[in-house]
Amino acid sequence: MVVLGIESSCDETGAGLVRDGQLLGQAVASSMDEHARYGGVVPEIAARAHVHAMAPVVREALDRAGLALADVGAVAVTTGPGLAGALQVGVAAAKSYAFSLGVPLYGVHHLAGHVAAATLDGGPLPNPCVVLIVSGGHTSLLLVRDLARDPIAHLGDTLDDAAGECFDKVARVLGLPYPGGPAIDRAARDGDPAAVRLPRPLTGPHDDPYAFSFSGLKTAAARWVEAQRAPYVPDAAAALQEAIADVLTRKAVRACTDHGIGTLVVVGGVAANSRVRALAEQRCAAAGIALRVPPLRLCTDNGAMVAAIGDLLVRAGAEPAPAELSVDPSAPLEYAALTPRPVSPQPSR
Ligand code: KG4
Ligand code: ZN
Repeated sequence: MVVLGIESSCDETGAGLVRDGQLLGQAVASSMDEHARYGGVVPEIAARAHVHAMAPVVREALDRAGLALADVGAVAVTTGPGLAGALQVGVAAAKSYAFSLGVPLYGVHHLAGHVAAATLDGGPLPNPCVVLIVSGGHTSLLLVRDLARDPIAHLGDTLDDAAGECFDKVARVLGLPYPGGPAIDRAARDGDPAAVRLPRPLTGPHDDPYAFSFSGLKTAAARWVEAQRAPYVPDAAAALQEAIADVLTRKAVRACTDHGIGTLVVVGGVAANSRVRALAEQRCAAAGIALRVPPLRLCTDNGAMVAAIGDLLVRAGAEPAPAELSVDPSAPLEYAALTPRPVSPQPSR
C-alpha cells in the first residue's frame, strides 16, 4: 500500500510517498527565504506559504514517484508539535485527500517522523536502539523499541534551548543568515575550534549523563563575540559547532554503552551538521556501536519521513485517526501516532 505523508509543522511544505519501507518519491517547498529578513520563522507567513505550496508539492511528489493520486492507500500527516497555523494547513489537506480518496488517515508525531527517516536508508531500525533527536525545537535521547507499537522512552531531554536553537541564536549574534545551523557549518570550515574556549554543559561527574543544556553555551559564545573588537566569525563558528557536537555525541554514546545497546540513530535537522556526523562516526566506531544517520536531505523537515512513519503504522495494523483529528502544537513524544489528547475539563468559576 502506498502511503502519502504530509509535513507542514514549520517552514517546509513536504510530501512523500512510501510503500513497504521504500521511498517512492518526495518533494519539499520551503518558505525559508521569506523568513530570512526577520531572522526567524514568522508563523503567519509560514502558514500562508503552506496553503500555496501544498497541492503543487503533493503533485510533484506523485510525479516523481510515477504515481497518480488514486494509487494512494493511506495518508499520514504531522499533527504536532509545531506552529499551530502551519500544522492546520497540513491537517486540512491530509483530511481532504483521505476523505476524497476514501482511505485511512493517520496523525503522527513530527519527531517520530524524524526517527522513521532513518528507516528509508538502510531498512528497519534494530529493536532496541538509542536515538538522538536534534532539531530546531527539540533535543532528546530516546530508547526506541518498536517505533510503531511501543511507547518511546526518554532517557534525557534538554533543560532549556534545543541544539538547533543554539546554532540559530549564536548565528544571529555572529551576523550569519537564517537558518543559522547550515551557516555556522559553512563558516566553521575556515575556523579553528580551539581558538575559543567554550563550556561543555552538564558533562561533569555529578551531572545527569543524558540531560542537555545549551543556553549557557549560547551565552558564553555571545559573550566572547561581544568581548572582541573584530570577532573572527569562522573561529567562533568552529568552536560552537565543536562544543555542540562534543556534548551530543559524548552523551549519546554513553547512553548506548550504559544500556548495552549496539545501535545509535542520529536524526533531526542538526544531524545534517558535518561535525556532528563526523564525531558521531568516530566515537561510535571507537565504542563498537553501529551508527545510523539519514542522508542529508532526509535530516531536515520533509514529507518522506511522515510517509515512513505512516507506512510503519499501516503495517503494524494501527488504528487510523478519528475524523475529528486536529493539531496538537505542543504534543509530547510518547507514541509515534498522535490521537487527540483528552481535553481536561475547564475549572468552573
Ligand atoms: O528538524 P528541523 O529541520 O526542523 C525542526 O523540526 O526544528 O531542524 C531545523 C534545525 C535548525 O535549527 C537548523 O539551524 C538546524 O536544524 N540545522 C543545522 C544544520 N542544518 C540544519 N544545524 C547545524 N548544522 C547544519 N548543517
Ligand atoms: Zn523537524
